[in-house]
Amino acid sequence: MRILVINGPNLNMLGKREAGHYGSLTLDELEMRILDKAGDLGISVELFQSNFEGEIVERVQNAESYNGIVINAGAYTHTSVAIRDALLSIKARFIEVHLSNVYSREPFRHKSMLSDIAVGVIAGLREQSYLLALEYFAAED
Ligand code: DQA
Repeated sequence: MRILVINGPNLNMLGKREAGHYGSLTLDELEMRILDKAGDLGISVELFQSNFEGEIVERVQNAESYNGIVINAGAYTHTSVAIRDALLSIKARFIEVHLSNVYSREPFRHKSMLSDIAVGVIAGLREQSYLLALEYFAAED
């Protein structure tokens, strides 16, 4: 089982950015926890982060062969028709994740361009959001 984990804009700033919302883990530390979990579950995970919408679109377009995608599209969650269309263009299914509980925050974060086409959405559980998404895909195998 191969899973792609995509992190969008500003997630490279984890550890320095709004710890009240996002916690104190850096992106490297988050990625280590994801890889440790993948090891425990016996699945293969590849990691990708970009601040650029077009790069995320291209990574999704090339993700046809994965069994699943875990995506935190950051602010693009709320705006990006392009990322939505890319996810619709491939067969691989995806889970939308967020570190923070977007529904307890500003109203513009309550809208997602991705939720209605996702397998599911996990928000507000910090790094556990990603780890639970991996568990879901691993259990499906
Ligand atoms: C986020 C929530 C988004 O609203 C925000 O723009 C982010 C991170 C989260 O993980 O909680 O960059 O996706």
